[in-house]
Amino acid sequence: MTTPDLSVEIAGITFQNPVMQGAGTFGEEYADFVDFTKLGAIVPKSVTEHPRPGNPPPRIVETPAGMVNAIGVENPGVDWYLNELVPRLRRYGVPIIASVYGEGDLDSYRRITGRFSSRTGVAAVELDLKFFSNPDEVNKVVSVCVGETDIPVFVKLTPFLGDNVERAIAAEAGGARALTLGNTIRAMVIDIEKRRPRLGGVVGGLSGPCIRPIGVKIVWDAAAEVRVPIIGVGGITDGPSAIEYLLAGATAVAVGSYNFVNPWATLDVIEGISHYLAENGFASVREIVGLARRNFEAETATPGEPRDLV
Ligand SMILES: Cc1cc2nc3c(=O)[nH]c(=O)nc-3n(C[C@H](O)[C@H](O)[C@H](O)COP(=O)(O)O)c2cc1C
Repeated sequence: MTTPDLSVEIAGITFQNPVMQGAGTFGEEYADFVDFTKLGAIVPKSVTEHPRPGNPPPRIVETPAGMVNAIGVENPGVDWYLNELVPRLRRYGVPIIASVYGEGDLDSYRRITGRFSSRTGVAAVELDLKFFSNPDEVNKVVSVCVGETDIPVFVKLTPFLGDNVERAIAAEAGGARALTLGNTIRAMVIDIEKRRPRLGGVVGGLSGPCIRPIGVKIVWDAAAEVRVPIIGVGGITDGPSAIEYLLAGATAVAVGSYNFVNPWATLDVIEGISHYLAENGFASVREIVGLARRNFEAETATPGEPRDLV
């Protein structure tokens, strides 16, 4: 059996395989477990203009098949990121995708994005638009940021903030070179003994296997409407769950919460994808990107009973 080709290209960047971590789910502290040189890309925690202390504890609560987090984007700010973090991460030799969080403010997104360029050793910026619900605003912030840097701008959209596909189209029209779909889903947990919200931040984001079918649908829907590559994220735990996203139309995948359960999850996913491709006779991972849609369309194009899609 020959080893399948796992490499993919997104926005002119070659990734040795289509697997990265979801922003904020692990950083350098995992280097003891995870061989970073094996990842498709490294996506550190979202960075803000200035240091942010984050939310009071508790910040994470486990839920059925997932977790709710309200970290509050704790990070040391963009100066530290560029001067200290990026130089350390560059030695792994894989593309670094800088997740940028402008705290809901267009000018802040613009200023942070402007700090990144090809000279900084970062391959792409990913705008974490976690509070942008309006497609016009998405379009505006993306087009403004694209004008601030010479490296590709990716856009990460959060589900259930309005129409996912409309925002995906708006981001693409604004110049996004890839879309990361999706993100956590607004959620909360109540402590029935203390009779108060469990999380220090009260409301947080639900993630993990429980959101996977939602993420797969968002990718499926968007892939039919946009041409830019999609990075699928939400509930990926292993090779088969990543394959679902690829078949739905994602070119790459990000593994988030499951890194807390299994620190080697990203590496297991890479191996699982390779195994699936070899077992099923595919020479390259690129062959299966969007294959479920192509199969579905080929079936439905043949005359026969109309399908009830609901
Ligand atoms: C503890 C934690 C922190 C996160 N921090 C960020 C972040 O800083 N920026 C971001 O864009 N997404 C962040 N996310 C979202 C993940 O990158 C991912 O999009 C989401 O968790 C869905 O994937 P999953 O179900 O595999 O966890 C965070 C998720 C978790 C669980």
